[in-house]
Amino acid sequence: MQKSILILGACGQIGTELTMALREKHGSGSVVASDIREGSKTLMDSGPFELLDATDYEAIENVVMHYEIEEVYLMAAMLSATAEKFPMRAWNLNMNSLFNVLNLAKDKKIDKVFWPSSIAVFGPNTPKDETPQHTMMEPSTVYGISKQSGERWCEYYHKKYGVDVRSVRYPGLISWKTQPGGGTTDYAVEIFHKALSDKKYTSFLTEWTKLPMMYMDDAIRATINLMEAEPEHLQIRSSYNLGAMSFAPRELAACIKEHIPDFEIFYAPDFRQEIANTWPASVDDSKASQDWGWEPAFDLEKTTDVMLKSLKGK
Ligand code: SER
Repeated sequence: MQKSILILGACGQIGTELTMALREKHGSGSVVASDIREGSKTLMDSGPFELLDATDYEAIENVVMHYEIEEVYLMAAMLSATAEKFPMRAWNLNMNSLFNVLNLAKDKKIDKVFWPSSIAVFGPNTPKDETPQHTMMEPSTVYGISKQSGERWCEYYHKKYGVDVRSVRYPGLISWKTQPGGGTTDYAVEIFHKALSDKKYTSFLTEWTKLPMMYMDDAIRATINLMEAEPEHLQIRSSYNLGAMSFAPRELAACIKEHIPDFEIFYAPDFRQEIANTWPASVDDSKASQDWGWEPAFDLEKTTDVMLKSLKGK
């Protein structure tokens, strides 16, 4: 049976690739992309698109009714670094969009919701290595506070109203098709662009700042697998830890140097360093493996290889 799906924030870093992957799977016509702005030509030409503000309940409801949408993926959000500059705007966007979608599910207008959380839910008092699923959180950024609150609301809507909401805590995501915007982990994408164009890069995080990271193909596969899992297997309705690899800028630079021997890296940490200091270095994602069979496929070497090859070919 074909499912009809709506993606909010379809033109962003994750949204673009998720839209294409879901269209491939379910047929172009049944996956409606939406965003507050138009996206890449590939995305716009590949199926239905609606200009939509994720904070506007009525507008979303109209699209949901018009296309008889069953599942919503809410990918619109303001990321960590930008959110520190616009705290109220970030809170309003990140929370109101989530309530809009959760309320549509509560009122049985849609059947299933995907909402992304992040490693930003953790804070300075969280154990840094192999961060457990259940642990001290205390996020200290606006973005992290919105994601942790969102997790609590997802679990609440599931328990109280039976809403089928599913979520993962994405690590930093590395992709070549669409650039990220306003995140603390963005250096791990910028570095590839600069390595190819300038053979040098100045990192806004120090050389030893180790963070959990993931190649986009793994992130998309995780998202789709979680959404397809049998509901009775899912013990976590806040958000699952999700891991693939962990590295610091110096390790990524060393890996790039194997392909581009004269590549140079410099360090000029800025306000994003403070954010990164509060996040885990690696996460324990064994709950995701147990409950829905999560297994990453891309390590640092494979990611570096595919990033350089794909960006060169672009
Ligand atoms: N990649 C995001 C950020 O850096 C974390 O979820 O804000």
